[in-house]
Amino acid sequence: MRNQKNGKEQIIKENLYNMKNILITGGAGFIGSNLSLALIDKGYKITILDNLSPQIHGENPIETSPLYKSIKDKVTFIKGTVTSRDDWEKALQNQHIIVHFAAETGTGQSMYCIEKYTEVNIQGTAIMLDILANSKHNVHKIVVASSRSIYGEGKYVHPELGEVYPKHRDENDMLSGDFEVKYDGFSDLELVATTEESKIHPSSVYGITKQNQEQMIMTVCPTISIAPVAFRYQNVYGPGQSLSNPYTGILSIFSTQIRNGNGIQIFEDGKETRDFVYISDVVDATILGIEKDSANGEVFNVGTGEAIDVLTVANTLIDSYKIDVPVTITGRFRLGDIRHNFADLTKINNLLDFKPKVFFKEGIKQFTKWVLKQEIQKDELSTSLEEMKRKGLLK
Ligand SMILES: NC(=O)c1ccc[n+]([C@@H]2O[C@H](COP(=O)([O-])OP(=O)(O)OC[C@H]3O[C@@H](n4cnc5c(N)ncnc54)[C@H](O)[C@@H]3O)[C@@H](O)[C@H]2O)c1
Repeated sequence: MRNQKNGKEQIIKENLYNMKNILITGGAGFIGSNLSLALIDKGYKITILDNLSPQIHGENPIETSPLYKSIKDKVTFIKGTVTSRDDWEKALQNQHIIVHFAAETGTGQSMYCIEKYTEVNIQGTAIMLDILANSKHNVHKIVVASSRSIYGEGKYVHPELGEVYPKHRDENDMLSGDFEVKYDGFSDLELVATTEESKIHPSSVYGITKQNQEQMIMTVCPTISIAPVAFRYQNVYGPGQSLSNPYTGILSIFSTQIRNGNGIQIFEDGKETRDFVYISDVVDATILGIEKDSANGEVFNVGTGEAIDVLTVANTLIDSYKIDVPVTITGRFRLGDIRHNFADLTKINNLLDFKPKVFFKEGIKQFTKWVLKQEIQKDELSTSLEEMKRKGLLK
């Protein structure tokens, strides 16, 4: 009798264990590697599908990428691309949960590498769903990284019109130094937190691809008995962030400039704001999405609810590194950039019991402490800005 009971317990344990295989695409990246390590600590078995993109990991990633090195001995690593059906088929074997992070991620770059962004972000997601819809599998949940970029300029309140959603800004206004958003010519608008019901109207190709990924997953998954969850992350930062990628990540771009002794050129008037969310909070929120049934079928904002302007970011970093470099407010701007956005966290708080723990002041301390232990990377910002200028996207 006793043996039979033990046998049953053993089978139940094995079943539970077997439900813990997670495929993380883009798992060698900033968020993916941090998430992988946290999930391994919780007993999950992680497979990563990642092409070790040189833009993120450098030209010789196997030897030099700190992100790849942090996970390589702890996961089943498949070097491959989400644009290949064969690579997806290999990676999907015996998986129960997919966290889909692999993506091209530069907002500005997306405005002139349009085919690449749609191929990786949209087509890559389409191939995954196509395989799942047409073959036997054990996947019961997909978590996808969406983005605040899908909201475009976000939500405002006008004293008479109520809630309004301004379109992207007029180039002529910005050329004359007027950077705030307008709605139908009205400028007396109050910025409010973006809720999940806010209008979706991205102002970059990157944002469009994120909207598309999210909508494909939210639409197809329920028809094939898979629970979809989408996280609309705000600007994520923290240890592990690529310090050499000049296309995305304002905190790392500024850090590399300051450590090279180069001055910081601020776009617009420096009053544009972002909601900076610390990596450990992003990992915590994502794990709640993986583990809680209350996440199923839902989209969630992930941020801090705090809007920090870019000039404050630059000055805080300069103070932290104690390296005095000039800060110039240039009045220049990039087409496709938004003015402000910060997250309303009511939904994720109510459904997943998530509250951010690390706010900007503390997060910057931890981030800069980590940066100071890293090698100083080459400042490649001018290369990416030259590229944008040539395409007519930097004014
Ligand atoms: N970091 C942020 O602030 C932020 C904000 C909102 C949304 N997101 C989303 O979260 C996800 C993870 O972002 P991250 O900051 O960790 O980015 P990251 O660039 O650090 O990581 C992305 C990973 O995807 C891999 N990759 C790129 N193209 C691939 C392909 N074709 N096939 C397989 N792998 C490929 C890269 O090698 C990299 O390891 C992305 O989908 C991103 O759009 C990030």
